[in-house]
Amino acid sequence: MAEFLPIDMTLPRASRLEALAPMLSALLEEETSGWANLANAASAMMSASRWHWVGFYLIDAHQDNLVLGPFQGPVACTRLFRGKGVCAVAWESNETVQVPDVEVFPGHVACSSASLSEVVVPIRNNHGDVVAVLDVDSAVKADFTSDDVKALESLAGVISARWNQWTWQP
Ligand code: SME
Repeated sequence: MAEFLPIDMTLPRASRLEALAPMLSALLEEETSGWANLANAASAMMSASRWHWVGFYLIDAHQDNLVLGPFQGPVACTRLFRGKGVCAVAWESNETVQVPDVEVFPGHVACSSASLSEVVVPIRNNHGDVVAVLDVDSAVKADFTSDDVKALESLAGVISARWNQWTWQP
């Protein structure tokens, strides 16, 4: 595996993220550990975007809440609960949630005061059920363009497509 991803940082951010999708697909191809793959996915997306926080929350089916998974950025809340926050809305609605201004989003969970806008995209297994969410925070208000969101959905799709092949043991 290449030690670095050949991302042209002179391209606009959405183009970098778009270019990342096939690279991410190749990066995830040979490994079956879900933990290793989500860790590399978070790193790749952070390198390409330089957003404030990029990571995953996984559905903990036993506790019926979301638990922090691999991420890049400042330390974050370890558990998120139904009915509260952007990640929970994406989980419960099975839809992408885009929040241009977190201060006016009812119930927003502020893990970092530097996060000003946010996008959360569901990750689905091959039955279409939400198994995790991709959460991206920006330190800039209204920072996400529709092209950014489209690129994030495509990256989440790469992960969703492989989810059922992964194992969660060390
Ligand atoms: N803001 C999220 C919580 C997770 S952090 O952004 C990393 C929410 O409202 O669900």
